[in-house]
Amino acid sequence: MKRTGRSYCRPLFAGDDKFQNLMPKTQKQNGAYYTPESVVETLLNWVIRREEDRLLDPSCGDGRFIANHPNSVGIEWNSASVEAATSRAPRALIHDGDFFAWAAQTSDRFDCVAGNPPFIRYQMFKGETRARALTLCRVLGANFTGLTSSWAPFLVTAASLVARGGRMAFVVPAEIGHAPYGAPVIEYLVERFSVVHVVAVRSKLFPTLSEDCWLLYAGGCGGQSTEIRFTALERFGAMKVPPRQYEAVSVTDWRTSWGCRLRPFIMSRPARNLYREAAVDRDSTRLGDSGRIGTGYVTGANDFFHLRPSEAERSGISDTLLHPTVRNSRVLRSRRVDAATVERWRRADAPMWLLHLSRDMKLPDTIRHYLDSAAGRAARQSYKCRIRSPWYVVPGVWIPDFFLSYMSGVQPSLARNDANCTCTNTVHGIQLKPGVTGHQIEALWNSAFVQLSCELEGHPLGGGMLKLEPREAARIVLPAPSCLARLDEQIVNEALATMRSWRHYSRGR
Ligand SMILES: C[S@@+](CC[C@H](N)C(=O)[O-])C[C@H]1O[C@@H](n2cnc3c(N)ncnc32)[C@H](O)[C@@H]1O
Repeated sequence: MKRTGRSYCRPLFAGDDKFQNLMPKTQKQNGAYYTPESVVETLLNWVIRREEDRLLDPSCGDGRFIANHPNSVGIEWNSASVEAATSRAPRALIHDGDFFAWAAQTSDRFDCVAGNPPFIRYQMFKGETRARALTLCRVLGANFTGLTSSWAPFLVTAASLVARGGRMAFVVPAEIGHAPYGAPVIEYLVERFSVVHVVAVRSKLFPTLSEDCWLLYAGGCGGQSTEIRFTALERFGAMKVPPRQYEAVSVTDWRTSWGCRLRPFIMSRPARNLYREAAVDRDSTRLGDSGRIGTGYVTGANDFFHLRPSEAERSGISDTLLHPTVRNSRVLRSRRVDAATVERWRRADAPMWLLHLSRDMKLPDTIRHYLDSAAGRAARQSYKCRIRSPWYVVPGVWIPDFFLSYMSGVQPSLARNDANCTCTNTVHGIQLKPGVTGHQIEALWNSAFVQLSCELEGHPLGGGMLKLEPREAARIVLPAPSCLARLDEQIVNEALATMRSWRHYSRGR
């Protein structure tokens, strides 16, 4: 096999993803953020043992991981990066093409694999490449849904190319500690390597990215592991080997007690013990036990469907066709949305009315005029309006008992719905089960323990925000009163502060 220069996978066709890669792409679309040299050196120091070791970087970018090792292979699909890698790493063999296409047909295996996979979210990780990646991983025994970000199948596929006894070391997004698609990666690694070590780093490895990055080491390919080593570092410092101090997380515990999340291991052990004890107490419950948590409606054209009282009056639209709505979590400042709240919106002439029409109704002339206005003609061109019939009927309008913020700053807001309002999909609604009053939820919500639970069951979004998906909100622990009384407040408060500091929330933003 040719040891230097570049190789070409196959001719290109206009419909190919690879052809699309010759078109200018943004750094974000390509997941092209190059690794600081000190991090490159740290990973290579550990992963390369001998000069003759074969090294692979499956997404080599400008070639910084493969430049100084004589026996290297890089894969890269961006033509400009291939050029840069070819001149930076003249001794390496560089394949110009999609990693998954190459991996599907290669019989090469490597003593060491290292790099920084592209972090391309599912909205942009699509088409032929994603289909190929998911099929390949399925064959390897790792199942990802279409919602996966590219780095996860990248790591599984890269791991499948490590030779017996070999190692891999990667930069990984911190979401390996909580994203659902992080779990199949860890499951695959513990089945294939005798050591799997995740090194969490609080301060940013890439100062310009909102994404936090951690390090992942896996060694002893061909073995298996019943534990995941986990180290939490305040900041990255160059190292020859992975940190010698780590928490040995049992894989069974990670699966069963922590929902396949490593993020809780950022907290101290006493905090984890306390949280777990409270969560499994037979009188404790989860928020999802009290009711259904779901998102609100999507209009497709908020400016058109949300009217201000003055607009409604000008257009002669009757109040009976309008429904007061919670448009975003900024309006959830107090613990109740009640008549006084709605009155405040009305006085401020806020866009508080949802135009709420039903399929079978006979449309009054005032509504016909509004629908046929310039704003209405523009609204019906929006994607959501085009795919529903009739376009002006907004589906999924419901009246929850509580509103819960979806993305939050210091903490998620919970507000009782005393004004019969509905809500958009930027907030969640909670519909209580019959017989549940919700008083206990209200009483516990602002406790440090429940807020800690929001941090652990939700996930950081970047930029300091905390995001709670409905399935995550359903897991929030409501501790039994007896349990709450026993909790060591200092431990809970410290754990809460730690989790907030790891998502970089600061009140002064
Ligand atoms: C995060 S950068 C890492 C580059 C380099 N390894 C480093 O750490 O500096 C990811 C690289 O993957 C490339 N890439 C994205 N998807 C790819 C694919 N399916 N096949 C090959 N390369 C890909 C991008 O063009 C980008 O250069």
